[in-house]
Amino acid sequence: MSKKIITLHVNGKDREVAVDERESLYETLRNELRLTSIKKGCEVGECGACSVLLNGRCVDSCIYLTMWAQGKDIVTVEGLKDETNGDITDVQKEFIKQAAVQCGFCTPGFILKAVEIVGANKPYTRSEIKELITGNLCRCTGYMNIVTAIEHAIKHNMDKLGIPYEVQPATTSFDLPDEEKEKMLKDVLAMQNNDVTKV
Ligand code: FES
Ligand code: FES
Repeated sequence: MSKKIITLHVNGKDREVAVDERESLYETLRNELRLTSIKKGCEVGECGACSVLLNGRCVDSCIYLTMWAQGKDIVTVEGLKDETNGDITDVQKEFIKQAAVQCGFCTPGFILKAVEIVGANKPYTRSEIKELITGNLCRCTGYMNIVTAIEHAIKHNMDKLGIPYEVQPATTSFDLPDEEKEKMLKDVLAMQNNDVTKV
């Protein structure tokens, strides 16, 4: 199929690209514009590794056609910066400070999700943050530090807005109620005995 020349607004600049109408935004941004922060994970809209911001909202670029992105403001991690001083954003600083990165494969997607969350200007609680990031998966399972980093980034924003906000203490499975712990233990034992009917 012949390609069409279209213009996309990416990271603050207009970019001309030749695209097949069936091409995903992931393919265009990564393969043609070489924006390699975008990662290919599941390719079915489940993991968030290919996230980009479209008009400030996270979208899975693997299941979004490039043609649909015309006229929209597209941002990838390469285009993130603190508008006040050109430095990296508070979100990125907190991901570094809270060691919220392991292999790094999921990190660009989580950072863009965090930018969206912080940009909502809401004092989200720790459990609300956990709900909000359910569309992003980390194979290294470093969720606790990721949630902490997002909470601290929200705190910076709330401070700027003059809204009181306390970072909550992180909880672990050891903080679960006794009956939850007992159920987890039973599940693990049932799995070890291959008795999945009880899990
Ligand atoms: S690669 Fe797009 S959501 Fe997983
Ligand atoms: S840090 Fe490795 S997949 Fe999340």
